[in-house]
Amino acid sequence: MTETTAAPGSPRPGDVALITGGTGGFGRALAARLRAREVTVVLADLDGERARQTAADLGAHFVPLDVTDRAANAAVVAQVEAEHGRLDATFLNAGIAGKSRDALDVDEFLHVVDVDLFGVVYGAEAALPALRRAGGGSIVVTASLAGLAPVATDPGYSVAKGGAIAFVRSMAPRLVGERITISAICPGFADTAIIDPLRDEFAAADFPVLSADEVAQAMEAAWGSAEPGAAYVVQPGVGAIPYKFKGVPAARTASGQTAVVPEALIPPSLR
Ligand SMILES: NC(=O)c1ccc[n+]([C@@H]2O[C@H](COP(=O)([O-])OP(=O)(O)OC[C@H]3O[C@@H](n4cnc5c(N)ncnc54)[C@H](O)[C@@H]3O)[C@@H](O)[C@H]2O)c1
Repeated sequence: MTETTAAPGSPRPGDVALITGGTGGFGRALAARLRAREVTVVLADLDGERARQTAADLGAHFVPLDVTDRAANAAVVAQVEAEHGRLDATFLNAGIAGKSRDALDVDEFLHVVDVDLFGVVYGAEAALPALRRAGGGSIVVTASLAGLAPVATDPGYSVAKGGAIAFVRSMAPRLVGERITISAICPGFADTAIIDPLRDEFAAADFPVLSADEVAQAMEAAWGSAEPGAAYVVQPGVGAIPYKFKGVPAARTASGQTAVVPEALIPPSLR
C-alpha cells in the first residue's frame, strides 16, 4: 500500500472507526491497534455479555448489531454520529463460515451470503452518508482468499466473499470523487475462532496460519493507504499484497478493432 491514494490519510487521534464483527479475532486485534493511536473505536457485534466486556476491556464502545438487518446498520451509524460526532472509517468485518458437509445445503448457503455479502452491502449503504459528512473516509471490507480462489468445502462462503470483492471493485470508482476509498482484505487462514473446527488439522499438517494481528495490520494500513478497489491478499510469510486481476478479452469490431463501450452507457460521474 502506498501513500498516493484517495483515502484521506492514516488514522489520527480523535478519528472515529466502526468495526462490525468487532469483538471477534480480527476485530479485537484491529481495535487494539486503533486504540493505541487514540482512535475512538466502536465495536458492533451480536449482543452478549462477552461481547460487551470485550469492548470495555479494549477501551472501545459497543453497539449491538446483526449485520443482516439493513435498518439496524443505519441505526448504528446514526448512533455513532450522535455519540461521537463523526465517522471516518468503517470496517465491514462480520462474517461466518458454513459448516455443512452436504454437497449443497441451500439454507446454510443463503445464511452465509446474508451475513458475509449482504451484511457488507448494508454496512456500506449505512456508512456512506456519514463518510460524506466527514468529508471523506474509508470502507475496508474483510473478504477472504476464498473469494479469489473458491473453496470446495464452503460454496456459500466462496460466493459471499467473491461477491464482496466484486462489490468493492464495482463501488470504488463511484466513490473516488467523494474522497471515499473502499478496499478489501483477503486473508488466508488465520488464528481466530472461525477456524476452530480446523485448528487440529492445521497443527497436525504443520500448516502456517496468520496471527489476527497480521491481518489487523493490513486492515489498519488499508484505512489510510489502500488503492481504491484493491483486494489485498494476506498470507503467512508474504504480508499484504494487492491481488493482480487478469483482464477479460475485449469485444472486437467487424474490422478487428477493440470495441469501446458507448459513452452513453457510462454514468456521467464516471466518464
Ligand atoms: N480467520 C480466518 O481464517 C479468516 C480468513 C479470511 C477471512 N476471514 C473473515 O474475517 C472476518 C472476521 O472473522 P474472524 O476470523 O475474526 O472470526 P471470528 O469468528 O473471531 O469473528 C467474527 C465476528 O463476526 C460476528 N458476527 C457473526 N455474525 C454476525 C452478524 N450476523 N452480525 C454481526 N456480527 C456477526 C461474530 O459474533 C464474531 O465476533 C470474517 O468476515 C471472516 O469471514 C477470516
